[in-house]
Amino acid sequence: MHHITLIHQTDFNGWRQAARTLVLDGVKPTDVTWNIEGDEDQLFATMKTASQPRSSAETFNVPAKFVELASIAILHRDPERFAILYRLLWRLRSHHDLLEVATDPDISCISAMAKAVRRDEHKMHAFVRFREIGREREARYVAWFEPEHHIVELAAPFFARRFAAMPWSILTPDLCAHWDGVALSLSPGVHKAGAPASDRLEETWRRYYAAIFNPARLKVKAMSAEMPRKYWRNLPEASMIKPLIAGAARATDAMIAGAATEPHKMQKRLEEPMRGKTTSVAKELERLREEAASCCACPLWKDATQTVFGEGPPDATVMLVGEQPGDKEDLAGKPFVGPAGQMLDRALAEAGIERGKVYITGAVKHFKFVPRGKIRLHQKPSTSEIKACRPWYERELATIKPALVVAMGATAAQSVLGKITPINKNRGHLIDLDDETKALVTVHPSYLLRLPDPDARAREYERFVSDLKMAAAVLQKSAHAA
Ligand code: URA
Repeated sequence: MHHITLIHQTDFNGWRQAARTLVLDGVKPTDVTWNIEGDEDQLFATMKTASQPRSSAETFNVPAKFVELASIAILHRDPERFAILYRLLWRLRSHHDLLEVATDPDISCISAMAKAVRRDEHKMHAFVRFREIGREREARYVAWFEPEHHIVELAAPFFARRFAAMPWSILTPDLCAHWDGVALSLSPGVHKAGAPASDRLEETWRRYYAAIFNPARLKVKAMSAEMPRKYWRNLPEASMIKPLIAGAARATDAMIAGAATEPHKMQKRLEEPMRGKTTSVAKELERLREEAASCCACPLWKDATQTVFGEGPPDATVMLVGEQPGDKEDLAGKPFVGPAGQMLDRALAEAGIERGKVYITGAVKHFKFVPRGKIRLHQKPSTSEIKACRPWYERELATIKPALVVAMGATAAQSVLGKITPINKNRGHLIDLDDETKALVTVHPSYLLRLPDPDARAREYERFVSDLKMAAAVLQKSAHAA
């Protein structure tokens, strides 16, 4: 029996060297045990991997995809991961296409581990909240987070890029990451008592959360899936969740009590099969949203806080497509909640469209920006980023099957129509997408915000509203048909 001792939980190099030596020595996976030396405090001890690496002449190649998968899966907390990875490596030597066999138990197990690690990394990006310690020049920002897996080193560069100008520390029970404005460093994990519980910025988070909360679109189950309760205790805005949900429930109860009228028998008969369909579409959308949360199809996920997926009723007849989330949307995880969203809300209302009746999404689902001091400057997505994100739009479209897709702005038009489409030449009339779906091209609401001349802005706003009225007509027609 061979006993391999790695020096810490994320000792990928140690595992790699030992695994290579073992394979070359012909040691079967059943003849190896894998352990971590001592506890995680040993992270800063010297390396003591049991097997010594061989000379480079005695090496062998594995697909780069395996190395990438293994380097992520090894961050999973399951103690079996080292052994499963070694078994995979052993089998890969005689079965070169093994990585393509998704049904293989080892492949599916390691892929699920890598996915869980990526999901945890995304949750960390979204749910770390810094508290301010000290003021002005002396200020430092400290956050407490409890990751499910060993992801601190993986996630830390994101915070260094995002909060490059401020010195911060993220404390966790496993490992702590620190940024001094120049370099990242690590130290052993600490107890929660070492982290500040609140600060003067807390109220700002709460006000922001209350401002973007829309009771009409409250889905407690979906919200709990996106923001699991275990993260609540570290989120300043979490104290708002219960009262806001309770308030929404009261408003809904009042509506039910006040306006309940029995639908016509015929309408009831028509609605029954529709309800079943709506539920399955809603489930499919939730599944897509979850899958998209760990999308890495283009590099934008690295600096964005989270995927901002579409939102709206599963049986929507109109789908609005924007460009990409902005700063506010990136933080809130919801489309069109910032200044462009306010402009859109105003124009929708003026066109006679209830926002809650349309499905709203973006052609690109991660925020693209460049940091400028404390602000994040929006950047237009490239064609390759639009293409990488298009499968999500296609799957939203195939699931919802709206009668009309409104492409707002050039990026949306390029994604919806599959080619670069000038707005002015193509706006104002319906374009066939297929037998059942039309497209309408119009400007993006942020274009209106950027127009410096008030007269031009008013004129363009009217044109935007009149485009949206075409969507309102489609909505009305579908309401009559129902
Ligand atoms: N612009 C978009 O295209 N989408 C948003 O969600 C916000 C701004």
